[in-house]
Amino acid sequence: MKAIVWTKYGSPDSLQLREIAKPTPKDNEILIKVHAATASTPDTEFRRLKLPLVFLILLRLYFGIRKPTRITILGMEFAGEIESVGKDVTRYKPGDQVFGYTGLNMGTYAEYMCLPENPSGMAGVLAKKPVNMPYEEAAAVPFGGLEALHALSKANIQRGQKVLIVGAGGSIGTYAVQLAKHYGAEVTGVDHTSKLDVLRSISADHVIDYTQEDFTKNGKTYDVILDTIGKSPFAGSLRSLNENGTYLNPNPGPLDGVQRRGTSERSNKRLLPWTAGYTTNNLLALKELIEAGKIKPVIDRRYPLEQIAEAHRYVDAGHKKGNVVIEIQ
Ligand SMILES: NC(=O)c1ccc[n+]([C@@H]2O[C@H](COP(=O)([O-])OP(=O)(O)OC[C@H]3O[C@@H](n4cnc5c(N)ncnc54)[C@H](OP(=O)(O)O)[C@@H]3O)[C@@H](O)[C@H]2O)c1
Repeated sequence: MKAIVWTKYGSPDSLQLREIAKPTPKDNEILIKVHAATASTPDTEFRRLKLPLVFLILLRLYFGIRKPTRITILGMEFAGEIESVGKDVTRYKPGDQVFGYTGLNMGTYAEYMCLPENPSGMAGVLAKKPVNMPYEEAAAVPFGGLEALHALSKANIQRGQKVLIVGAGGSIGTYAVQLAKHYGAEVTGVDHTSKLDVLRSISADHVIDYTQEDFTKNGKTYDVILDTIGKSPFAGSLRSLNENGTYLNPNPGPLDGVQRRGTSERSNKRLLPWTAGYTTNNLLALKELIEAGKIKPVIDRRYPLEQIAEAHRYVDAGHKKGNVVIEIQ
């Protein structure tokens, strides 16, 4: 089968098209013919392995010290059709159309891959794909959709609340805008000039261009601030929060933790860390919302598998609006 093999840490040229053996499912696994994947920002971060030192050490131990050896195929999101199942599999059958996320097991940049029928947590998640959505769109749902759904469910948004989303034009952000609107919030999206039209197209009520305006200094306040990328200034974001408001930050630093304790002692503002939410129930909740026409993926560009390096270069350059899809014939 055709696959894109990740040959070293670094530039997109490390992703090389090769013929490799087609996998065989174990007794508890399903074999999926992958029809579509994505070039996501986390995929490009893993490829480069330019991450904070502590992650870098752990990930090199996991992927391979000098070059990727244990995990050699990138790609975490997919949509495809089940070709065969192991003898212990009960929930799926050949012909089922599925979508999901493989997490740190990766492997979606290939014509076929195997997954346990019940993957969980960062080892992946799987469900039947929305019936009204082609593979090329369904593949762009799991990462951004699950992260946004999980974050906003922690915030417990009430109708009429003011919600601000930082990084609103990205994979997580475009779902967060749509979900917050679905929950009845008044939504402000913050992103680069080039992403503002996309935010308007998914019904953001207000947009802020972060290259022109600092949302922490414009005097406006919000009930919920969701930072999808961990770039908002901590103290300024708390200042921009109403009393009883919630600030969701994906990975608060150690000093933020100290400030957080001080904050909750002095006021009713909450700081919540939020990544994850990779459960079958959450993926099924997204499927229902898609089938009801409430949310949809924002797709920027599509590339064939053979042009994966070009797709990664586009994402590396920071141009991506929503999602970039990889089509696998
Ligand atoms: N499972 C995982 O691996 C996992 C889980 C949770 C979170 N994450 C993290 O989540 C992030 C990816 O999220 P994503 O895929 O939604 O990102 P994305 O698609 O790359 O979108 C991020 C958006 O934020 C914008 N942005 C950059 N600086 C900004 C600022 N100061 N203010 C407002 N917007 C700004 C970017 O615009 P410009 O680039 O044009 O400036 C871009 O539109 C990664 O950093 C990843 O490590 C990963």
